[in-house]
Formats: sequence, structure tokens, C-alpha cells
Amino acid sequence: MKKSMTLTDNRTGKSYEFPILEGTRGPGAVDMRSLYKETGLFSYDPGFTSTASCKSKITFIDGEKGELLYRGIPIEELASKHSYLEVCYLLLEGELPTERQALELDLEFRHRAFLPEGLVKLFDLVPDNAHPMSIMSSGVTALSAFYYEHLKLESDDDYREMAHRIIAKMPTLAAFAYRHSIGAKLIYPDIDRSFSENFLYMLRAYPGGKLHLDPGGHREIRKIEIEALDTIFTLHADHEQNASTAVVRSVASTGAHPYVAISSGISALWGRAHGGANESVIEQLKMIGSVENVDKYIARAKDPNDPFRLMGFGHRVYKNFDPRARILKQLQDQLRDELDLDSELMRIAQRIEEIALHDDYFVQRKLYPNIDFYSGIILTALGLPRSMFTPIFVIGRTVGWVTQWIEFKKNTEEAKIARPRQLYVGP
Ligand code: ACO
Repeated sequence: MKKSMTLTDNRTGKSYEFPILEGTRGPGAVDMRSLYKETGLFSYDPGFTSTASCKSKITFIDGEKGELLYRGIPIEELASKHSYLEVCYLLLEGELPTERQALELDLEFRHRAFLPEGLVKLFDLVPDNAHPMSIMSSGVTALSAFYYEHLKLESDDDYREMAHRIIAKMPTLAAFAYRHSIGAKLIYPDIDRSFSENFLYMLRAYPGGKLHLDPGGHREIRKIEIEALDTIFTLHADHEQNASTAVVRSVASTGAHPYVAISSGISALWGRAHGGANESVIEQLKMIGSVENVDKYIARAKDPNDPFRLMGFGHRVYKNFDPRARILKQLQDQLRDELDLDSELMRIAQRIEEIALHDDYFVQRKLYPNIDFYSGIILTALGLPRSMFTPIFVIGRTVGWVTQWIEFKKNTEEAKIARPRQLYVGP
């Protein structure tokens, strides 16, 4: 029997039937596409809290259970057993790569990591102290000029080339944006280094390519640092229809170049309510300053008349815990032991977490630490500059954006311009 839902308009007494669509996991959805045509009414759902904007086979989240799956595989398994590169392959191709396929992708990413020299020259036009996020979003838009041919993709190989190119170039663009922002000479990718290692290298190396000697006597980038960053990329790789991905799909629906859609995603991610939160978490921990001040700020976060919010807490979808935050908490503890880290910031964060997890205000509203609460602390521990936290999110999320863009383009049933309606309340 076909499932449906009946809606009755109590002004006229007329009833209308709408089909219920079932997915493979999670809640079904009422197909409201004919609502306006049949009833002359719109549905009203600002913030899309109850609206499924597409069908997707990429990522699944169960916010009540705290579950996140990429292509059906739990995030815990991916983060502990697979590299970010394998996760990229999984998202793009729908299955994990063989050893050979992973190796080929690794080599391809290394070769494609270089930026066109014309684009590098554009950096000279940007003010020295520009935030790396503004350079990233304009840099990716500029890439659409260098690879204009990606506007017309015909074969699967065309799609792949477009996707691999942008994923491989994003760390270089981020590292260049940072070096430009501090007035340092650009360090080009090193073909002998893997994806995550190369990014740390381009941030840290001195002109000529040498790395500095750290207080522990290490000159090379440490394995634990590369693995931690790789895990952070994996945890950020996709998150179904979040704000920036919804923007990417929306721009895709107008027929714009894929890199312009991704650039729009970067801009959407920058905000404090989204990917910009990791930077704000550290700013806030610094503002709190010491463990003794934590209670005062918790009281402010709970005060309905005070706009102050605890950054890194709460999530639109996760109402139990954020599984990515749980993985990062373990990683934070591991880094603390292995790198012998113990900072006041970590102690303040720990105190906030202890209080918030037991305080009625946070418990009743189901406000738990999200991924950004820990990622900022870990990236600080890895010596990464605060202005790079959101760009690091961009690097990880690029594969998600591009995979969602491709899914949108290939699904002709849904290839409609995103054009919401409104409830007019003006004069
Ligand atoms: N601190 C204090 N109170 C909070 C917080 C917070 N961080 N987040 C939500 N609340 C309260 C709200 O005041 C509201 O209380 P009320 O019902 O008494 O009015 C209630 O919890 C519900 O909050 P909403 O804003 O309606 O929840 P929504 O789902 O729209 O927002 C969001 C989610 C934007 C993430 C929000 O929790 C927030 O601003 N958090 C801080 C910023 C942050 O960490 N963002 C990163 C998100 S994860 C990511 O993008 C990767």
C-alpha cells in the first residue's frame, strides 16, 4: 500500500493527500512538491528545520543516536582505520579504494597540488593582513577562470578530474593564503610528501624548504601530528545538508561553475554559527582567561537577556552527542599524553565541559560540545595559527561539497533551480 498523509484545510473542509517517501535510514518525508498547485498554500519552514531539500546517498546522520555514516560506514571506523585520502575516494566513488586505487589517488593529489602561477600572482593584489578565508573564497572563484572547461562536464572522468583538482589544490591555497597574511615567502608543495603532511610543511617550512628545530629536537613533521590532522580532515569531510552544503547545491542549481559553487560554500562556512566557530572557541577560552572565571561565563551563557553563547556547544541535528566531538576528545587526550601538552586553555575547556554536561540549562536543551569545541584546542596544540582553523575545515569539507555538487548534477529528477517562496507580511 502506498503511504500518504492527508491534510485538511479547516477553512474549506477540503482534504488533500500527499505521498510519504521512505528513505533507507532515518525519518521519511512527505512529498510536498504539489502543495502549492493543489492547495494554493506554501509551507512555512524558516531555517529548514523540517524540510528535506534533496534525496542523497552520501552521508547519514542520526542526531538522536549521535550517529554519522559516510556511504554507510560509521565515522568511528573511518577515523580509526582509514586515511583522509581513502575517505575522499569513498565519498566520491561510493566505496573504499583498493590499495592500488588509494596509491593512484595519492600520486594524483600530489601532482595536482600546484596552483596556476597566474593565480599566485593575484596574491600580490590582496592586502597583507587579509584573513585567509577571504583569500580562499576569492582564490577558488579565480580557479573557475583557470579551469573554465569544468563548466561543461560530460563523462565520469570529466567529473573526477574537476573534483580531484579542487581537493588537491585546496591545502596549497590555504597555506599560501596564510603565508601571504603574515608576509612570508610562499613554500610550494613538496611532491615527496603526502596530502596532510604537505599542508603542514607548506605552513611551517622556511625559504629553501627547511623545517625548524622544535624544542624536542625534531626537525621533521611528527607522525602523530600528521595523523591528527588527517583525522580532523576525515571528521570534516561531509555532513549532509549543512548550511554551506545547502549553499553549494543551491548555486549548483543555477548552472554556475562548480568552483564558484564551492567558493560560495567557503563563504557560508566562515560564519561563527558554522565553521567559524572553531576560531571563536579559542577566542572565547582566551577571553575567559582562567579556570576561576568559568562559572561567571557559564552564568552569562544561561542568562536569556545576555547574547553571550558558549561557542562550540549545541548543534541543529545532534541532540545527544556529536560523534566527531567524541573522537576528537580522545585525540586531544592522546596528544596531551604523547606531546606532553598541558595548557591553561585545555584546563578551562575541561572545566566548561564538566559543568555544561551536568548543568540543567545545557542538559534540558541538549547542548553538548560539538566538533568545533575540540578541533580548535587540538589545532592550537599542533601549533596551528587560529586564523587557519576555518581554512582547515574548508580543506576537509571540499570533498563533501564537490561530491554533493556531483550528486545534484547527476540527479535529473531534482535538477531544479532552488527558489524558495515567502510569506509576505509587508504593506
Ligand atoms: N550557549 C548557550 N545557549 C545556547 C547555545 C550555546 N552555545 N546554543 C543554543 N543555546 C540555547 C538557545 O539560547 C536556545 O535557548 P532557549 O530555548 O531558552 O531560547 C536553545 O539553546 C536552542 O538554541 P537554537 O539557537 O534555537 O538552536 P539551533 O539549532 O538553531 O542552533 C547552533 C544551533 C547555531 C549550533 C547553536 O547551538 C549555536 O549558536 N552554538 C554556538 C556556535 C557553534 O558552536 N557553532 C558550531 C556548530 S557545528 C558546525 O557548524 C561544525
